[in-house]
Amino acid sequence: MADTTFALLGSGSYAPERVMTNNELAKLVDTSDEWIFTRTGIKERRIAAESENTSDMATAAAKSALEDAGITAEQIDLCIVATLTPDLPMPSTACIVQAKLGLPNHAACFDVHAACSGFIYGLDTAWAMLQSGRYRNALVIGAEKLSTVLDWTDRTTCVLFGDAAGAVVLGPAPAGSTGEIVGTKLYSEGGNTELLQIPGGGSAHPTPGPGTPARFIEMKGREVFKFAVREMEDAARDILEQHGIHADEVDCVVPHQANLRIIDSIAKFLELPVERFFVNLERYGNTSAASIPLAIDEARRSGRIKPGSLSLLVAFGAGLTYGSALVRW
Ligand code: UT7
Repeated sequence: MADTTFALLGSGSYAPERVMTNNELAKLVDTSDEWIFTRTGIKERRIAAESENTSDMATAAAKSALEDAGITAEQIDLCIVATLTPDLPMPSTACIVQAKLGLPNHAACFDVHAACSGFIYGLDTAWAMLQSGRYRNALVIGAEKLSTVLDWTDRTTCVLFGDAAGAVVLGPAPAGSTGEIVGTKLYSEGGNTELLQIPGGGSAHPTPGPGTPARFIEMKGREVFKFAVREMEDAARDILEQHGIHADEVDCVVPHQANLRIIDSIAKFLELPVERFFVNLERYGNTSAASIPLAIDEARRSGRIKPGSLSLLVAFGAGLTYGSALVRW
């Protein structure tokens, strides 16, 4: 076991067919393609069909990741779904995905909720569980149907988000194998929960109605922007220092896809050209927990991530939560 490590053996992703452009949004709220693009870098996003649930998108991404990894559903004994838009408050979306994929009954299946940092939280959790020796092959999925938690009359939020899913298979591999996890690091700052939240629909305010908070994303955009830059910088710097790696050794940074201006700031901080960052937010917007695994899958399949290269994954989200991971491909 000494020379066995755990690696990302495969990846997959899924995006709903329906594309919603900035110009379409400008017919719903007082906004413009120019405003959205210059402030965020987003051109369009995907919107799931009414009948298409988070678990359906998660299942499609997971099937593709299993195929890519050459691992069967029967070989999976751990399934973690990161989401803030579960199909139902109970049971977990992971259990619904388990049934849809036909994962074995001895598999541990549960959701993690760390908003846009959810995939990194799931990856860290799965990696630790595999390292314990009690689990062998894990699916880590980020999936979101954010269109269901948006106030489509609020131009400050509805223009930013989209629906999608991404997944990876994590399993044992000989040391030095492609996709090897080098390290992960998680953080949370619970003192600022009100900056980014869905105030209604939970046990504090269960019943929607006049005078009660809505079940929609509310955000203090400018404050979140400042936190995002600071947190992602901290998360990137700490993990690089911890592993004695200079930023220049990172071949591809895969950041949470929220805003191109945030990504530009991180690039300046790390003194890296922005071309080192994989960016697909112009086509998907912010897909929260799905954002990083969707980007990983596109970066791998397009050849942007090459064997032998080093990737830095870095995310932030509501909580506030943030985190990073290093992967050697
Ligand atoms: O995964 C975590 C999710 N959260 C984030 O990543 C959000 C981080 N924050 C941001 O990305 C940016 O703060 C936003 C893109 C949300 C907003 O950009 P900004 O440059 O910080 O704009 P702002 O909030 O300072 O608003 C500037 C103006 C305001 O008008 P006034 O007060 O200057 O007259 C807003 O009312 O832009 C107005 N505005 C809009 N105008 C056209 C806000 N949203 C829109 C809109 N279209 N969609």
